[in-house]
Amino acid sequence: MKVLLIFGLVAVALADVTRFEGDKVLRLKPVLNEHVKVIRELANSVQLDFWTPESAEQVTVGISVDIRVPAMYLDMAFTVLQQSGMQLDVFIDDVQEAVDRQIENKGSPRAHSYTKYNSWSDIESWMNSMATSNSDMISKEVIGNTYEGRPMVVLKIGKKSGSTKPAIFMDCGFHAREWISHAFCQWFVNEAVTTYGSDSQITSLLDKMDVFVLPVFNVDGYVFSHTSNRMWRKTRSRNAGTSCLGTDPNRNFNAGWCTIGASTNPCSETYCGTAPESEIESKNLADFIRKNKSIIKAYITVHSYSQLLLFPYSYTYDLAADHDELLEVAKGASSALRSLYGTVYTSGPGAPTIYPAAGGSDDWAYDLGVKYSYTLELRDEGQYGFLLPESQIKPTCEETMLAIKYIAAHVQKNL
Ligand code: ARG
Ligand code: ZN
Repeated sequence: MKVLLIFGLVAVALADVTRFEGDKVLRLKPVLNEHVKVIRELANSVQLDFWTPESAEQVTVGISVDIRVPAMYLDMAFTVLQQSGMQLDVFIDDVQEAVDRQIENKGSPRAHSYTKYNSWSDIESWMNSMATSNSDMISKEVIGNTYEGRPMVVLKIGKKSGSTKPAIFMDCGFHAREWISHAFCQWFVNEAVTTYGSDSQITSLLDKMDVFVLPVFNVDGYVFSHTSNRMWRKTRSRNAGTSCLGTDPNRNFNAGWCTIGASTNPCSETYCGTAPESEIESKNLADFIRKNKSIIKAYITVHSYSQLLLFPYSYTYDLAADHDELLEVAKGASSALRSLYGTVYTSGPGAPTIYPAAGGSDDWAYDLGVKYSYTLELRDEGQYGFLLPESQIKPTCEETMLAIKYIAAHVQKNL
């Protein structure tokens, strides 16, 4: 009886996991309006998963388009795309194989590790133990709960001082499937506490400033990407009148909300929600930053993939008032990053550098008055995309540290 019950539960759990056998990720290079039209038409007739940009509407002439095409649509997709004469490369030959390969040493027990993609429950216990074992440097604050009731945990890192210090805010894991992002926030926290006292820059930074780190913003989505659908991006909230779940949290902030590069369709991966901050996760984050507005000097939000260092604006082509300085700092940070392993990053304002997309937290924070507002898109450039192997966590985090330290040094110098 017991065995049967367990078998039944396992079978139900397995049945609910989305698999990607035979799916391919294609890179398309539309260079004519006709190519753009073909991609949009294809997206209208079959279910495509846009990896970059995030939706068909954001496709324009001259950009690279990475799409996951489910196995059952491959024949027809190849026919239509090849007929158009558009450049087409197969980037991932079998998505399920790449999903399976991403996690190394699957068999061995998986405890929390900085070089693995940790589960939410491992990250949760890790946050607790980091806070208890570094009580002189780290304090933990729950800034609210997610839609499904999980805590959004912020770790404040810095030498404790009598007076309030200026701060940098950094979040990871807006989008569930961008697992290297979550890994980076954990790496950062560890680097900060272990190199405090030996690394002069970290020491000075944490003496004079605090760094607020939110390692997992979209907790519900992250859990779902582990348990049920590796390619989940959005939150997990219900939408009226449809069974499609979730809102794109990076289209849900009050910055030109839903005017461009976002969708009003709840089934879209870039659904902007019913109003700015309609998602509880966005509201919790925005409330926290508003409350600490006077001390927060920089806002850094970590995504993947594409190797970009972006800054405002994304909701308009207008240049930010601080454009020159933001660009200067972005270039310095990118070259610091490159110095370690040669990884090349592109920097610039969101709209002209990739595509316009309104409602992002970076633009919102900037307009609120947080001058140093940056979005990082970590490795890679599409070879693995969201399925970056665990062997790349260490080098990615090491090089990204250099960029963050560069930005932080500039912020500190200009307090
Ligand atoms: N790939 C990110 C996204 O679409 C880029 C974010 C850039 N910033 C922005 N406000 N759109 O969410
Ligand atoms: Zn993202």
